[in-house]
Amino acid sequence: MSTCVDMMRASKLDGLQMLKLLALLQDGRFHSGEALGAALGISRAAVWKQLQDMEASFGLSVHKVRGRGYCLPNPVILLERQKLADNPGDWAPYVLDSVDSTNAEAFRRLEAGVSPAFFVVAERQTAGRGRRGRTWVSPFAENIYYSLLLRIEGGAGQLDGMSLVVGLAVLEALRDQGISGAGLKWPNDVLVSGRKIAGILLEMTGDPADVCHVVIGIGINVNMRDVEAVDQPWTSMRNELGVLVDRNAFVNNLNVHLFQYLYVHKSHGFQALKAAWESAHLWQGKNVRLTAGAQHIEGQVIGVDTRGALRLLVEGVEHQYSGGELSLRLRDDS
Ligand code: BTN
Repeated sequence: MSTCVDMMRASKLDGLQMLKLLALLQDGRFHSGEALGAALGISRAAVWKQLQDMEASFGLSVHKVRGRGYCLPNPVILLERQKLADNPGDWAPYVLDSVDSTNAEAFRRLEAGVSPAFFVVAERQTAGRGRRGRTWVSPFAENIYYSLLLRIEGGAGQLDGMSLVVGLAVLEALRDQGISGAGLKWPNDVLVSGRKIAGILLEMTGDPADVCHVVIGIGINVNMRDVEAVDQPWTSMRNELGVLVDRNAFVNNLNVHLFQYLYVHKSHGFQALKAAWESAHLWQGKNVRLTAGAQHIEGQVIGVDTRGALRLLVEGVEHQYSGGELSLRLRDDS
């Protein structure tokens, strides 16, 4: 496991102190160097040094005003394990400061003997994985980087349509928060006005014919306001709502929706949710271009089949497409 301590190449004490400092500053108010030092049992000079390290390590900016002290101009609400423990699936929460990828970490914990089901969330990812080999930009304490690890019995067929169902759960959680204009784009992007607000990446390990494990990776842009590294149009809950969102509360509500949707999917398969998915699909009936490597297929979206494959009308004939490497774009005439 990579922690903030590794990340900063500092002593364990320094790393813990930095997080304590952050917890004290997360209210966005001014705190004097003296008060911060007293709370941590360190000198004012050491506080200043820790804050400089914190800015460098986490990419957070700290304001210093003579006579008032220090404050975070952009307040943060940190993730807290004890606030995430109560969920309908009794999924054990693991909360990390920094990790390469929460998906990778979930698999490592499985290998280390942790029993499913459990979920991993992190304040940041240094190598967040997106679909089709892309990087998922994951700045510190701004968004949700979440991976739920589940044991699947009866073969990989149980996973048919699961990533689409996860999209429905994410959508519901966003709608509960007041993001009314959100919808889905096959297979599982969540968009608001054509801009991506959440992405989903399922990865599997084990025997596809028998017992396997799936990690359901979900990235949600929550409080991110300006980041240049994202290579596609994006938005965040904060950009849409204009308020800071409590990620702990959001993860709890996401867990409720995930539990409900995954239960229906497990009991009845994707076919029970196909109509709901299609009514949330923003590109129903649209003219699209599907890209698979160097190959492009143009057609009109009919919907999805009972396994979650995309149904396209191509030159008057229906075809179905599925697979993680496919990418869908609107055609200009759509
Ligand atoms: C996409 O490209 O749309 C999928 C993005 C999935 C990102 C999430 S963030 C949490 C989890 N850990 C990862 O490394 N990726 C997923």
